[in-house]
Amino acid sequence: MDTRAKKRAAAEAALRYVEDDMVLGIGTGSTVEEFIGALGASRVRVRGAVSSSAATSARLRDAAIPEIDLNSAGDLPLYVDGADQATPHGVLIKGGGGALTREKIVAAASSRFVCIIDDRKLVDLLGAFPLPVEVIPMARSYVARRVVALGGEPVWRQGFVTDNGNVILDVHNLRIEDPVALEARIDAIAGVVTVGLFARRGADELLVAGDDGVRRIAVSGP
Ligand code: 5RP
Repeated sequence: MDTRAKKRAAAEAALRYVEDDMVLGIGTGSTVEEFIGALGASRVRVRGAVSSSAATSARLRDAAIPEIDLNSAGDLPLYVDGADQATPHGVLIKGGGGALTREKIVAAASSRFVCIIDDRKLVDLLGAFPLPVEVIPMARSYVARRVVALGGEPVWRQGFVTDNGNVILDVHNLRIEDPVALEARIDAIAGVVTVGLFARRGADELLVAGDDGVRRIAVSGP
């Protein structure tokens, strides 16, 4: 099975968590696009969805799924999103698509986070995928120096501006052995908006698509 087919299989498996009249949170990325397509084509009629990016809002419009502002939605029963890497403990690297800040907000506001991935993203140790950090533009060089002091190699994602008007540093060569501590350390650097490490609030369940179908991993925490 190719990667696209695996993404579709994980996305379709997430449909069983969605109920009629629900307002759910929806992440960003190509796996999520498969989910939005499957949800739009399904018999389930949700009340609406809280979007994590302009790209997802456009996909929701295509699928005729009403978008609801998080400020009027209250807490959400469900958040469905992809990831760039995930451990079996539900700790994630996210932000390959640059939507990490809004994704982290919607995940935090949701009581259940179902993460949909293909099996090449499931790892025991995070870090082979560069860790995205959203940064206020004037703080870019300062934050980069602080990240170097932590042992990382930051690379400015040139030409990319987030939906919030900020820039992204992709941090290479970090060994992420204590993700909760690293998330707190990077978040504490002045000028950092969000680090794409989802450890404090990781996924509650992983749906991992492989050649033999979709495996569900219920998470017990980092
Ligand atoms: C966007 C993300 C995505 O979830 C992540 O990049 C995975 O994307 P894809 O499903 O396209 O592989 O964090 O900010």
